[in-house]
Amino acid sequence: MKGLILAAGYGTRFLPVTKTIPKEMLPLIDKPSIAFIIDEFIQSGIEDIIVITSRRKKSLEDYLDREIELEEIFRREGAAAKLEKIAPYKANISFIRQQEMKGTGQALMLPEKMIGDEPFVVAYPDDLHFGETPLAAQLIKTWEETGCSVLSTLHNPPNLERYGILALKEDGFHVKDIVEKPAPGTEPSKEATIGRYLYTPDIFKYLREGWGKHTTGEYFHTYALKQQMDRDGVVFKPLEGERLDTGSPAGYLKAILKYAAKDPDMAAEILEAADQIRR
Ligand code: G1P
Repeated sequence: MKGLILAAGYGTRFLPVTKTIPKEMLPLIDKPSIAFIIDEFIQSGIEDIIVITSRRKKSLEDYLDREIELEEIFRREGAAAKLEKIAPYKANISFIRQQEMKGTGQALMLPEKMIGDEPFVVAYPDDLHFGETPLAAQLIKTWEETGCSVLSTLHNPPNLERYGILALKEDGFHVKDIVEKPAPGTEPSKEATIGRYLYTPDIFKYLREGWGKHTTGEYFHTYALKQQMDRDGVVFKPLEGERLDTGSPAGYLKAILKYAAKDPDMAAEILEAADQIRR
């Protein structure tokens, strides 16, 4: 199974920092957010990872490369803990550049030749997952059981109007449609999709078909997904664990705090700061 990370976007919600630092490189303390996705993929057994990037994302490519000089220095010094921090990823990581920002649907078409006739997991790097079973592994398991494309969902989160919401078929398991950001009260179910998808490779055919009909603006994955849905090819999997949304400044702040709080000393610092703010 290959993994794909869509990391070409401008990151305008984080301007001005994203003028020079890719959004995916914004860290939770000491670890860039994209590294959480890479770890999730590797822990899910994914060994080939393709990252879709764009101009101004060079630091991302450097980060995912080896830090060969430092490795050498730390090895000479016998600094095992430091060496561990920069250990090379146990995955083949390659990059494709999206040259024009024509939407996630267009980005998804770019790796077709590299992926070939195999299912693959897609991650939007805004959505991080903390939990026992890595999120990509949860999708892979559901695909093994069904043979279908799988959409990861949150069940009834606050602010359903911020998500792509699923309409379900009568069996309550297959997906009939996806409604992007429905007005409050009009949502077809309580299953909100997040940025983790497992696609069977026929998605490429439908992406190309939709692209042929597309005229202006960004091109999304929804047309192609709908074609798969009409052929009973799509199911959903409510996620186990916790999803962190680093796509907005407030969500990013929460993700930093939750990650930091895994260390008891840091948790104490956070609570002390919160007390001071409250006073
Ligand atoms: C995207 C998708 C949407 C999904 C959301 C999850 O929206 O289009 O279907 O629910 O990610 O994070 P965006 O957040 O980019 O507006």
